[in-house]
Amino acid sequence: MTRQPPDLFAPGLFEGTGFYDVFAWYREHDPVSWQHPAGEPDGFWSVTRYRDTVSVHRDSTRMSSTKGMRLGSTERAVRAVANKMLIVADPPDHTRMKRVLSRPFSHEVLAAAEAHVEKVVGDVVAAAVREPVPDLIGHLARIPTDVICAIMELPREDWEWIGKKTTEAFESPSEVTRITANSEIFKYFYDLVRENRDTGANGFVGELTRRAGEGAGPTDEELVFNFAGILAGGNETTRYTLASLTHQLAEHPDQWLRIARGEVDPADATEEALRWSVPGMHVMRTATEALRVGDAEIAPGERVVTWIGSANRDPEVFDDPDVFDVGRTGNRHVSFGAGRHVCLGSRLARLEITAYLRALRGMVGSIELTGPPRYNGSNFTWGLNELPAVLS
Ligand code: HEM
Repeated sequence: MTRQPPDLFAPGLFEGTGFYDVFAWYREHDPVSWQHPAGEPDGFWSVTRYRDTVSVHRDSTRMSSTKGMRLGSTERAVRAVANKMLIVADPPDHTRMKRVLSRPFSHEVLAAAEAHVEKVVGDVVAAAVREPVPDLIGHLARIPTDVICAIMELPREDWEWIGKKTTEAFESPSEVTRITANSEIFKYFYDLVRENRDTGANGFVGELTRRAGEGAGPTDEELVFNFAGILAGGNETTRYTLASLTHQLAEHPDQWLRIARGEVDPADATEEALRWSVPGMHVMRTATEALRVGDAEIAPGERVVTWIGSANRDPEVFDDPDVFDVGRTGNRHVSFGAGRHVCLGSRLARLEITAYLRALRGMVGSIELTGPPRYNGSNFTWGLNELPAVLS
């Protein structure tokens, strides 16, 4: 390993997995480092150790999300939704909105939807076995969209449109397509909220609209932003975990056998899939007052980035962190973040991944790669965007 600090922003670093060596260097030599990428107006503090990551996420008074929660977001876009969308809100707005919005994603409510999630996931796995395609992600992508549409009780005939628009809004290389798709999603939810207000309809949207109307909950505008946020938060992330899990099982037939033979608890394998896949590679906060993180003195207004991918491989917390082990227990990964912004959909994502493992176990004999997988190269929503593989 080099003595010079390695470049966290080397072109193509996140197109492979070489960034794990870069993180390891920083964890050991400069765990909270100042980074100022070339061409960027400002630098930021880069946090790589598990304990510092958790302390930043849990510090809800001195760490603000309202200036954006990722590198590269535009100030204007963030300002338009700050304190109106959970992920870029601070208390008291965050508390007020999360109280209402977390209810449909709680343990008790989702327990009733478990069979439904299993059915949606089972259908996708059955289709993947029946109709192999060159890129398995074509099938896997349907799991998060179909599940979230089912949970939100959106009309069946809209699901395909929603899936298409969500992909366009977040993954299209064309900015015009991204902006257009985003506006179409906002318009869709705006109409839905209005319709539910007018008709007093029941169901997911109606229930939240009514609760919001009862007082301190989100306004109609906030509901629209947060519905779009729920789609955004749950789509690519869960797909990347499913793709990574499939990839690892294809690469490690011994691990697949342990699952196929029922030797490991699917809940443990789910946690390892989450630790390994890291679809939320970094999270950003802005300091509201002076504070210390590790040995670094952070000044008010400075940005702090935690690398979840690095925290999840910290040897201080995980034995053999670079080994994919579906039977790992006591897995304290931070893939869903921590503290007040902890992922709203963590329970739902876990349900989907566990249902996927059960469906693989029930319907699949072997998982094989048919070509090299490709990573998307992002240091934010990181994952596989091509997975040539067959489930037979
Ligand atoms: C493997 C799947 C997922 C991963 C790895 C993931 C990761 C994360 C992370 C790291 C955060 C914290 C962001 C921060 O601290 O600023 C977060 C928040 C959030 N996630 Fe997820 N997520 C996943 C699935 C989902 C799903 C299925 C939904 C849909 C229900 C969802 C909706 C959200 C929302 C709305 C927030 C904002 C919560 C808040 O700010 O209070 N996510 N997610």
